Amino acid sequence: MKIIVVEDKKQGGQTAYEFFKNELAKKNDAVFGLATGSTPVTTYEAIVRSNLDFSSSISVNLDEYVGLSASHPQSYNYYMQQNLFQYKPFHHSYLPDGEATDETKEVSRYNLIIKKNPIDLQLLGIGRNGHIGFNEPGTDFALKTHKVKLTESTIAANSRFFDNEQDVPRYAYSMGIGSILRSKKIILEAFGESKAEAVKNMIEGPVTRQCPASVLQQHSDVTVILDEAAAQKL
Ligand code: GLP
Repeated sequence: MKIIVVEDKKQGGQTAYEFFKNELAKKNDAVFGLATGSTPVTTYEAIVRSNLDFSSSISVNLDEYVGLSASHPQSYNYYMQQNLFQYKPFHHSYLPDGEATDETKEVSRYNLIIKKNPIDLQLLGIGRNGHIGFNEPGTDFALKTHKVKLTESTIAANSRFFDNEQDVPRYAYSMGIGSILRSKKIILEAFGESKAEAVKNMIEGPVTRQCPASVLQQHSDVTVILDEAAAQKL
């Protein structure tokens, strides 16, 4: 794992942006694995400010809440439209369908999308409990797309985006750690003190299902971008 410590999340976003720029310079039809949450916001801001053109590229998102429509303000589909796609349209952008009526079919559909569009660069955040892309502690590292039952700690952490905790969906679709690990290159960003413990476990701890992000130690091309607060326990 390569570790880059930056001054603040703005500089972190700029650093991650450089990875997107380099990938596009290699091939304009690159496949980008995208993340949501508060962490990647500065990365998307840096991309939006730039002259990068994604009109030949593909994006594949990590996860989506089950039960939220694409137009729901807390859906990840809506988040992506607001933060990135309205400014930087991709040739094609894929997300799990939170409203899919047949869950088994939705899982197969998404797995096929990832198989046909192998991810060149995957962007990740990390949950306070060490989850990546809603793959909660205990998740089998081999799993590809699947429906996830969110833990109480993730529901509580994400309730800040909803009117109250009851409104937070209890389930999500995730592409799974099996899919994440197949990405050629991975960058993970973490900002703020609340991520420091998870960051330490990810980098210095044993590879264990209890800290799903620790599996990234086994991938050959991972860069972790941290601010000083997130890096303080290393
Ligand atoms: C959310 C997302 C994850 C994200 C993580 C951290 O639940 N599904 O993909 O990386 O939790 O979120 P944040 O960046 O808001 O701290």
